[in-house]
Amino acid sequence: MVTPVDGIRAVHNAFRHDIDRIDAAALDAAQGKEGLAATIERFRFLNEVLVWHAEGEEIAIFPALENVAPLVAEAYVKDHRGLDSAFDELNNSYSARDPLKTARATAVFRFHLHMHLAKEDTHLYRIFAERISLPDQGKSMGAMAGTIPKDRFPEVVAWMFPLIGHEDRENMTRIWQMVLPAPAFTGVKEIIKKTIGSDWAELTRRIPTL
Ligand SMILES: [Fe+2]
Repeated sequence: MVTPVDGIRAVHNAFRHDIDRIDAAALDAAQGKEGLAATIERFRFLNEVLVWHAEGEEIAIFPALENVAPLVAEAYVKDHRGLDSAFDELNNSYSARDPLKTARATAVFRFHLHMHLAKEDTHLYRIFAERISLPDQGKSMGAMAGTIPKDRFPEVVAWMFPLIGHEDRENMTRIWQMVLPAPAFTGVKEIIKKTIGSDWAELTRRIPTL
């Protein structure tokens, strides 16, 4: 059965894959390769999603965790502020059209993001899954999703699905199928179908009710 934490892992994997691609492109650009601006500039949308995600955790996940594991989440809030600084450094370097500084900044961003997500997956969300009931986990996730502006949600779906594997796609789709009103889910389904192309067949094989 799919659980809320499976959805979190899927989003985390999308962050990982995106920052890896951005960092690789920034290094190539610093070494003189042309035509990578569009890939590097993905850092802007990545960070928008990251900020909504971090806000959601701070509003809905960390307070719930505080009741069952006091003082754990505090360190993760500090990590989030570190990600904010890493973004500022990257944004400033890119805006200054400095490819070397940009590549250094994407490497820092990537390292910190990977470290942070690995800690969340293996520590923070492990405690969340072990000590909070499934219905309460679901409530926290619902509140967390509220930080994404409604009109930007389609962009988040279109950003995420090409970045994640079959299992994450299945989990995420099953979660939305459960929690979204039918008309909203139909819209999401169309976006998924459009963004994953021929992989749609695998998703419908995994979820025949699609
Ligand atoms: Fe986080």
